[in-house]
Amino acid sequence: MINDFEKYCNMTILSPICDQLVELSNQAFSVNNGNIPKWEQAIADIQQIQPGKATFKHPYVCIDTQVDIENLTQSLKQLMPWRKGPYQIGNLALESEWRGDMKWDRIKDHIKPLAGKSVLDVGSGNGYFTYLMAMQGAEIAVGIEPFLLFNYQFQAIRTLISQPLKAYVLPLKLEQMPEGSSFDSVFSMGVLYHQKDHMLHLKQLMDVMTDNGELILETLIIDQQYGDQIIPQDRYARMRNVWCLPSTDTLHTWLQTAGFKNIKLVDVTKTTPEEQRATHWIGDNTQSIKDFLDPNDDNLTIEGLPAPKRAVFICQK
Ligand SMILES: C[S@@+](CC[C@H](N)C(=O)[O-])C[C@H]1O[C@@H](n2cnc3c(N)ncnc32)[C@H](O)[C@@H]1O
Repeated sequence: MINDFEKYCNMTILSPICDQLVELSNQAFSVNNGNIPKWEQAIADIQQIQPGKATFKHPYVCIDTQVDIENLTQSLKQLMPWRKGPYQIGNLALESEWRGDMKWDRIKDHIKPLAGKSVLDVGSGNGYFTYLMAMQGAEIAVGIEPFLLFNYQFQAIRTLISQPLKAYVLPLKLEQMPEGSSFDSVFSMGVLYHQKDHMLHLKQLMDVMTDNGELILETLIIDQQYGDQIIPQDRYARMRNVWCLPSTDTLHTWLQTAGFKNIKLVDVTKTTPEEQRATHWIGDNTQSIKDFLDPNDDNLTIEGLPAPKRAVFICQK
């Protein structure tokens, strides 16, 4: 996959940073992780399947092929948990924990067209959105995702596609992106609240954008009635690594302070059990949003904080 990336990347506007991206990715893939043989075997098994054309058939990234459902399920389950999706491969519906299409529907009509653009999807998970970005005609859509398993999930899906889309996922963090990165559209979705230093994340996003580039920022927020921001003392909706939940006014100020222009709030949506659900594709730990909320009040998390609500801001460099 990295070879394919290198070949194609060098033909795009990203050519000045390709070598660095390839080197950093190879380093990340060469870590000692005891799961890698299992994941590689799963991909080798999936390679036996005849690949097919990929399209978006709402809500699925859909691959038109014929599969033995039992065998493919077994291979894909070696790569659990499948958080992002959903995917349809032949007759097999891979129902991920998240209905990514619902987020995409809230965003897609507000962004500048991606056709011909270089696009960065920060914290891409297994690349569900990166595929959708490529399907919009991006010149190149690069997902960066430090969690290795999700990179293997991306490869598993890519193996099944006959004419690979111009979508790639690399095992990198935003802070590793080379100087001189220049993306026309940068997506940071579900990533800001995981950052200890939110202003640094916003600055790093700006650093990888072209002049006049567009940022699409999606993150957890709180209603103003709860104050300007909440810093969870312990967990938030059972998640350990949530550092800050701003109000939309506070987030607007952060974006302004970071130097972004034309800042627009385009959506605020409460996360529902329709969008985040427990499925058999997330493994033994089958808890999902309904287990993270107060059983007597779904406006509160199990820790007594406001229940998850997400905002989408769009702005320019
Ligand atoms: C909650 S998931 C969101 C996935 C997807 N973007 C979405 O909106 O559904 C956040 C992802 O960001 C990744 N991540 C966290 N910090 C990151 C960083 N500094 N750079 C790139 N990815 C990061 C995590 O590994 C995780 O897969």
